[in-house]
Amino acid sequence: MQNIDLAKVLETVSFIQNKTNFKPQAGVILGSGLSGLVEATDIEHSLEYIDIPNFPVSTVEGHGGKLIFGTLGGKKIVLMSGRFHYYEGYNMQEVTFPIRVMKYLGAEILMVSNAAGGMNAAFKVGDLMVIKDHINLFPEHPLRGRNNAEVGPRFPDMSEPYDTALIKNAHQIAAANNIVMHEGVYIGLQGPTFETRAEYKYLHIIGGDTVGMSTVPEVIVARHMDMKVFGMSVVTDLGIRDELNVITHEEVLEAANAAAPKMALIFSEVLQQLA
Ligand code: HPA
Repeated sequence: MQNIDLAKVLETVSFIQNKTNFKPQAGVILGSGLSGLVEATDIEHSLEYIDIPNFPVSTVEGHGGKLIFGTLGGKKIVLMSGRFHYYEGYNMQEVTFPIRVMKYLGAEILMVSNAAGGMNAAFKVGDLMVIKDHINLFPEHPLRGRNNAEVGPRFPDMSEPYDTALIKNAHQIAAANNIVMHEGVYIGLQGPTFETRAEYKYLHIIGGDTVGMSTVPEVIVARHMDMKVFGMSVVTDLGIRDELNVITHEEVLEAANAAAPKMALIFSEVLQQLA
């Protein structure tokens, strides 16, 4: 098995290029409840996932299912409103297929966002965290299989998956706008259950600050193709607390929606400062 079907990627890319000659500099992925960023984007063209050859179709409530081409922070972006999760039943090639397409459309940067549970005692619901590193606890790896060296190396370096300069810019932007923004480690796992109390504790002990069911496969594939990565979590619930901690998808969406404008501002200004 190949870890990437380049012919399929190129087929999708040429389909898109026949619809629009828009060349994005960055790809952006919106997490659950974070579609507020779409409103901040000056949209030029938009395609439903269902109409894009080889694209899987999103099934989760709160996920838009559109590929949007537009301008944010003065930069041309391709934006995924709704992502593909492993827990939906897609394999890792399907989950990460859009990242391959973004790269072959011209995107050199990937900006990812997610709604996540917080394990760090300093975090509150609605806080933002810029991702400085991740821990991959998914049961399947997106680069498993025969590698295509034309696309990326067999053994990609992961010592600095999230771009340090972009993190620094984000801190300055947050401070200038009085936005609380933490920095920390995101743990990605398969879901779809939220974690047990013992699991949240374990995830904190092994070094996690936030936890969610996405992002990590996408970031791995972006780094495989040497894209620069910027990532943010919105803390939508707190895994570490003594009282009984019942988490619902509705709560997650509500907290993410409330934090979306702050995140949109940071994404937009990080883009603005790109060369
Ligand atoms: N755990 C996993 N995924 C999540 C959570 C969580 O607590 N909150 C939002 N997505």
